[in-house]
Amino acid sequence: MFKRVFGALENHNIVLDMSAGTGYLSLAVAKRLKTGKVIALDLSDEMLERLERRAAEQDMTNRIEVRQGDVTNTGLPDNSIDLVVSSSLLHELPEPEAVIQEMMRVLRPGGKVVIQDFRNGPVGKIIGFFHRDAAHGPLGTATVTAALTSLGFEEVSVESKQLRYIASATKPRAGFRPARPSVVSDLP
Ligand SMILES: C[S@@+](CC[C@H](N)C(=O)[O-])C[C@H]1O[C@@H](n2cnc3c(N)ncnc32)[C@H](O)[C@@H]1O
Repeated sequence: MFKRVFGALENHNIVLDMSAGTGYLSLAVAKRLKTGKVIALDLSDEMLERLERRAAEQDMTNRIEVRQGDVTNTGLPDNSIDLVVSSSLLHELPEPEAVIQEMMRVLRPGGKVVIQDFRNGPVGKIIGFFHRDAAHGPLGTATVTAALTSLGFEEVSVESKQLRYIASATKPRAGFRPARPSVVSDLP
């Protein structure tokens, strides 16, 4: 994950961490930035308080903007973000495609997304069981690929890594026309 995120960071200075939690990715990315910032977005007060404490301890408050909000409706302007990152989020959402749509909206043309999450293997099924009423559960790699592609992303790459997948994709520079969203089923 870090390798892909750091690889995508070149010339990317405004980074949005969707579901920052306690700062697993936000802090690592912030330390790599020479200019710009990480917008660390999460719904949870508790997570964000812990992230703020860690950012202060690591002298990173000038590189991290903490923002409370929903990943499916961030309130950020269109085309305002260079790189969106997200770790261990999609399986917790009832409609994972809604967050991918929001990623597409906030990214500038040519901007990139890097997503890591549990995939729909045996362990993913157990994780899905614990989230069953509130969330979609882990997706399969084919579904992630189809979701990113059908929502208009280019250069889509989805790689399995043990229990997880790591996906990256690029927002087209101009004139994309998304097809109908098609995520939601990982039936065999
Ligand atoms: C499993 S944690 C992952 C945290 C961090 N990305 C990491 O990898 O350590 C999932 C996070 O997603 C956040 N979350 C879940 N649904 C959300 C939503 N709709 N909007 C914003 N944050 C959300 C939770 O508050 C939690 O911090």
